[in-house]
Amino acid sequence: MKGILLAGGSGTRLQPLTLAMSKQLLPVYDKPMIYYPLATLMLAGVHDILIISTPDSLPDIQRLFGDGSHLGLSIGYRAQPEPRGIAEAYLLGAAHVAGQPSALILGDNFFHGSGFRKLLLRGWESLDGCTLFSYPVTDPERYAVGELDAHGNLVSIEEKPVRPLSSNAITGLYFYGSDVVDIARELHPSARGELEITDINRIYLKDGRAKVMELGRGFTWIDAGTQLSLLEASEYVRIMESRQGVRVACIEEIALRMGLIDADSCYRLGAEMANSEYGRYVMSIAGSIA
Ligand code: G1P
Repeated sequence: MKGILLAGGSGTRLQPLTLAMSKQLLPVYDKPMIYYPLATLMLAGVHDILIISTPDSLPDIQRLFGDGSHLGLSIGYRAQPEPRGIAEAYLLGAAHVAGQPSALILGDNFFHGSGFRKLLLRGWESLDGCTLFSYPVTDPERYAVGELDAHGNLVSIEEKPVRPLSSNAITGLYFYGSDVVDIARELHPSARGELEITDINRIYLKDGRAKVMELGRGFTWIDAGTQLSLLEASEYVRIMESRQGVRVACIEEIALRMGLIDADSCYRLGAEMANSEYGRYVMSIAGSIA
């Protein structure tokens, strides 16, 4: 499986925070926002990842992750010169995807919940055309909204509807079959001038090949693209971490637990940040698992 992490956009809803800095590098409590979607891809078993961002932000993100080999990953980079929509990720990423199934995640999407890895693996197993992940919210009009029938089958999807037909937001994590690039190539820009990911999903739906997995009330999903949701994500992480003494989306720990790196490498990664609590946590995890 291939992965694309789309960290694009100019983050206008977060200005002035984003005037000189990429939205996806802003802190969500103790780590840059982009750690969280990267952790989700890792949990989904995706190790070969293309990060797409603006030409301005790309060098900063590259400085953060390099080629990914220290985490047992392969990370490549591609610039999206203009924000032409989420679906453009599959035009820019066509060579990377190379006809394989893939996962796309948006750089501001935060997922957390027990059993998440199992759910992600079920998503791959049942993948035919596309697998989407829905989450009940109080403000569905901000997102794509999925209407489900009594059996949980997807009936319709609408991007930012004025009158939402349900409270099920379609989150920014998508699993696609090998034909997604061909579908992306057929798209035309929407009224707002963007290649819409929702249009790709609708094509699969029309074809009877779109599934939704519902993230229930035991999960947390936050699109951290506004001031309030950014703060909420930070508060959530702080509470989870201080209460349980574990770190959410600690990519070094995930790499170690998934067997992508060994305990010595994990310890060294922590030691490079030994002045921070995060670094010391990584060192202690390496010690406890070795
Ligand atoms: C985007 C997508 C939308 C999706 C949302 C999830 O919206 O267009 O379909 O529900 O991400 O985070 P945006 O956050 O770019 O407005």
